[in-house]
Amino acid sequence: MRKLMFVFGTRPEFIKLYPVILEAKERRHDVVVVNTGQHREMLDQLLADLHLQVDYDLKVMTRQQRLSDVLARALVGLDKVTDEVNPDCIFVHGDTSTTLAGSLTALYHQVPLAHVEAGLRTFNKYSPFPEEVNRQLTGVIADYHFTPTSVTRDNLLREGKPAENVFVVGNSAIDMLRFTVRSDFEHDVLRQLGDKKLILVTVHRRENIRELGEIFSAINDVALRYQATHQVVYPIHMNPAVRHEASIYLTAPNIRIIEPLGTIEFHNILDRSHIVLTDSGGIQEEAPSMGKPVLVLRDTTERPEGVAAGTLKLVGTGRKDIVRETCRLLDDQEVYGQMAALANPYGDGTTARQIMDVMDRLMAGDPIAAPSTPVPFSDHAVVGVSGP
Ligand code: UD1
Ligand code: UDP
Repeated sequence: MRKLMFVFGTRPEFIKLYPVILEAKERRHDVVVVNTGQHREMLDQLLADLHLQVDYDLKVMTRQQRLSDVLARALVGLDKVTDEVNPDCIFVHGDTSTTLAGSLTALYHQVPLAHVEAGLRTFNKYSPFPEEVNRQLTGVIADYHFTPTSVTRDNLLREGKPAENVFVVGNSAIDMLRFTVRSDFEHDVLRQLGDKKLILVTVHRRENIRELGEIFSAINDVALRYQATHQVVYPIHMNPAVRHEASIYLTAPNIRIIEPLGTIEFHNILDRSHIVLTDSGGIQEEAPSMGKPVLVLRDTTERPEGVAAGTLKLVGTGRKDIVRETCRLLDDQEVYGQMAALANPYGDGTTARQIMDVMDRLMAGDPIAAPSTPVPFSDHAVVGVSGP
């Protein structure tokens, strides 16, 4: 038994670490759960739904938080917790400010760092911002890189990470879907649809804040055009800047803005959607395995697998582009059919088990078979993704 400290602070980190935490607990490791509290309501709701006991809550969130505030407060808090816990390994996920704080904490305390969802790259330091740099820095510090696919593995190998420390394990977002999606799910949002089809929207990225006028105008145009047949539902992020812009531009009568949904609710509503318009990272992983066409409201993606599979399309943030591509998808059955094909580039929902298998073998001192040699980037070429 080892002492494993899991650090998260935002909704997506929790969603994708939760299956790994459960697996570690089932294997009777000494699990310490640390929430930096970078998010509050959006995370507390999920913790309550899934009944996860948190050992430390650093309560770092403030309403107008700056990147530097979150990082500094989380770093100071994690320092004290790590002194007290003295873990054998720290786990972080993804690319948030909390991820970077957890990684630096592991470095300063000279504790091994395991990075879940490692190797995602756009190679553009301002897109997504600041996540691209957070995950590259975490990659520099991490000892064990749990990476979703061969594409992301190759990013790490090209950066010189030792092959024996890079493990392709799929994405634990898929593990999570097994806990959440069910056929008998009911919800007010679904009941109120009547015969209309659901267009699910989420928008929150920091680098998109100044583009929100364009993005929301496009969504409003689409809503008005399909008023008789479609309903737009937008579980809105709690960022006040996003809420302010939404209140100005999203005025069509068939747009429903609702509070953030719990993950069980969100996954089931995603499963009943017709199409998705989003700038979210996690939704780009979940939607392909549900066969939901996604128009990605960004210029780059670090998730080329869904684009290659045809489920995701990068449409940028321009009003005309978003309207044109959404109309094409809604009007042309052939285009819709091609994008709605089921694809699951992110594994079979056993990511948590694979991660803990590796950790158990590492902690027992067993050698781990090195993964195969890198595949040249050209073999993974995907339209619209920034290459190195
Ligand atoms: C953060 C992550 C981003 C991730 C997103 C998930 C960083 C740099 N960015 O961005 O990668 O995609 O979380 O949603 O770490 N707020 C609340 N209650 C909440 C959560 C947020 O009121 O429960 C409001 C606060 O006013 C806060 C603001 O949202 O100041 C922004 O939160 P923050 O965590 O700084 O950035 P996100 O845009 O959520
Ligand atoms: N999600 C949720 N409730 C919502 C919207 C999204 O639980 O109202 C989930 C979604 O299923 C995905 C994750 O939150 O797993 C994505 O989080 P977000 O878009 O905030 O962050 P990102 O993935 O872009 O970092």
